[in-house]
Amino acid sequence: MPAHSFLMKRVSISAVQPADQAAVVELLVAQMREHGVRRTTDELSRIVAQVLADEQYGFFLQARMEERIVGVAYVAMILSVEHGARVGWLEELYVAPEQRAQGIGSALLGAVWQRAREFQLAALDLEVDIEHRRAESLYVRFGFRRLPRSRWVKETGLH
Ligand SMILES: CC(C)(COP(=O)(O)OP(=O)(O)OC[C@H]1O[C@@H](n2cnc3c(N)ncnc32)[C@H](O)[C@@H]1OP(=O)(O)O)[C@@H](O)C(=O)NCCC(=O)NCCS
Repeated sequence: MPAHSFLMKRVSISAVQPADQAAVVELLVAQMREHGVRRTTDELSRIVAQVLADEQYGFFLQARMEERIVGVAYVAMILSVEHGARVGWLEELYVAPEQRAQGIGSALLGAVWQRAREFQLAALDLEVDIEHRRAESLYVRFGFRRLPRSRWVKETGLH
């Protein structure tokens, strides 16, 4: 895909390439830690490598400021009966703490939206953790709406 470039504040958004994997995984590990989730570098490296090897899984975008990767977004793609088409689950949107609130998350989200349309996705879904309510204004500005649903999970214990 062509790189998405944003002429705001030395930040450029692009697709994650295999050479970027280590830096992206480092950010994802930090994000998981912020969420209180322990995921190892090895585990997340495997996930990123799988997605980069087969775009049916979805896509990763990164935000670079100068040479440093300071933000990452991950969209997992699934076939949805509800939408009658493939949709994207925006599972991760993360900006390094020292670079927040200067437009990087918005630039990533804009690029995610553009990429979702390139993939002909019918919709983008996401969840906001109760402790990250502040992020809701960002999604409202982009036109997302809250669904009257709750999210449930049960681990298989296999991983
Ligand atoms: C949410 C996040 C990706 C936004 O990236 P960003 O570069 O800070 O966003 P922008 O500067 O483009 O937009 C600012 C908006 O981001 C959100 N935001 C900014 N700083 C934030 C922070 N520390 N925590 C949570 N959300 C924040 C707010 O919605 C803010 O809008 P507001 O100024 O009206 O409150 C980033 O702040 C982040 O990684 N936060 C921590 C993790 C998190 O809350 N993730 C939730 C994703 S569901």
